[in-house]
Amino acid sequence: MHFKSNVVKSFIQPPKANLIFHKTDEEIELIREACLLVSKVLTHVGANLRPGMTGAQLDKEAEELIRDHQAAPAFKGYKGYPSTLCVSINDVVVHGIPKEEEFKEGDVVSVDCGVLLNGYFGDAAYTFALGEVNEKTMHLLRTTKTSLYKGIEQATHGKRLGDVSFAIQNFVEKEHNYSVVRELVGHGIGKSLHEDPEVPNYGKRGNGILLRDGLVIAIEPMINLGEKEIKQSKDGWTISTRDHKPSAHYEHTIAVRKTKADILSDHVMIEAAVDGNPNLQMVEALEEVPIFP
Ligand code: MF3
Ligand code: CO
Repeated sequence: MHFKSNVVKSFIQPPKANLIFHKTDEEIELIREACLLVSKVLTHVGANLRPGMTGAQLDKEAEELIRDHQAAPAFKGYKGYPSTLCVSINDVVVHGIPKEEEFKEGDVVSVDCGVLLNGYFGDAAYTFALGEVNEKTMHLLRTTKTSLYKGIEQATHGKRLGDVSFAIQNFVEKEHNYSVVRELVGHGIGKSLHEDPEVPNYGKRGNGILLRDGLVIAIEPMINLGEKEIKQSKDGWTISTRDHKPSAHYEHTIAVRKTKADILSDHVMIEAAVDGNPNLQMVEALEEVPIFP
C-alpha cells in the first residue's frame, strides 16, 4: 500500500531529488578534463581578442580547437543554437550569437563556452574588457566576478543551494547597487549540459536543496548595471537588458566538496592571457574571498 501510493505520488509529482546526480571522483576528473578544454578555448579568446576582430572569427577558432581535442562543442545544435560560443557584447546579457561584426574599443564581451569530452560536459564563461572601458562598467565586471566566488565559497557539503544564491544576490544587490537577472540560472552538469538542480543567482539563506559532496554545478551570475529586466531578440536567443545598460557574466563549473568547493574550470589561465594581451584590461576582483581565484 505504501508502495502504491508512492508510485502514484511520484507519477503526479516526481521528486526533484531523483533527478540530481552526484558524481564519483572518477566522473569529477572527467568533468575537470572537459572544463580544462573550455578554459583553453577561453584562454585562446583572451590571447587574441582585439578591436577589429569578430565573434564569427572567434567562434570558428573555438570550434577548431575543440575538435582538435577529440571533443564537440556543447552549445552547437543544442535546442537549435547555431554556434560554438555565446558572444554577448555590452547590453547583451547572454546567448549572443557570434556575428561578422567587429569588436570595438570600450566593448565588454562575455564569451561562454561548453564542450562534450569523453561523455562529460564542461561549461565556463568570462567577460573581457576591450581597452578603455568606462569605470562604471569596469566596476560591474569586478563585482560580477567577485560575486561568482562569493557563491562558490558557499558550495560545500551540508550547506543549502539558497546559501549560494543568497551570497551572490546579497553581494550584488545589497553591497552594490546592481541587479541580478532572474530569468536565467546556473545548473547541474555532467552527462548532460543542463541537469538539476537549477542554480539561481538570487534566493534565501537556508532555503533549497541540501548540497552534498559530489554535486557538480555551473554557477553563472548574470548581473546588470541598471535594471534587472531583460528581453529576448527575434532570433530566439540573444538576451539583452531592457534599459540597454551593460551586463556581465562569469561562470565556473564546480564540484561540491566537504570543506571547500573544487573549481573545475580555470580562470587563472584565461587571466594570464588577458594580462599578456595589450588590447584587454584586467578585471581585478573587488576583494579576496578565501577560495580565490
Ligand atoms: N552557459 C550557458 C548555459 O548553461 C550557455 C548555454 S547556450 C546554449 O545555459 F545554446 F547551449 F543554450
Ligand atoms: Co552554463
